[in-house]
Amino acid sequence: MKKHTIRMFAIVFCSLYSLLSSAAPPASPEAEIKEGQRLTLQFCQTCHAYQGTEQAGTVGPPLMGMKARFPDRKKLYEIIYDPQVALKADTMMPPFGRNHLMEKDDIEKVIQFLYTL
Ligand code: HEC
Repeated sequence: MKKHTIRMFAIVFCSLYSLLSSAAPPASPEAEIKEGQRLTLQFCQTCHAYQGTEQAGTVGPPLMGMKARFPDRKKLYEIIYDPQVALKADTMMPPFGRNHLMEKDDIEKVIQFLYTL
């Protein structure tokens, strides 16, 4: 094999390798739900009761039947992003998205978990 052919192979191989290895492996739905559960425990349990919690607060209504009550995922996202806009201006619930307490990805994971309730 000629030298420059070998070099070409090496270049193609290296760029393919870096392309493939830079793509993050897609998180499984189970992993997302688990992470969402952790975030819900951290951010929501203080005020909301939901299945599986024992020390939940009662400031907000229980989070149950979420998929049936909030079939529109976008609507649920907006409530968590900024309840002062999506629910009511004087709510005690913090605007998790607007205040960057949670980024978009985190809110999506919380919703994945809420949809199991
Ligand atoms: C400081 C207390 C507090 C925290 C923390 C909180 N909430 Fe709330 N939430 C409320 C209150 C209070 C309401 C009811 C609206 C109102 O009266 O202000 C509410 C309403 C909701 C609603 C609408 C419920 C319904 O049945 O209409 C959803 C959904 C919700 N919260 C989700 C969440 C999620 C998800 C988190 C965590 C990321 C969270 N909340 C964190 C206080 C809180």
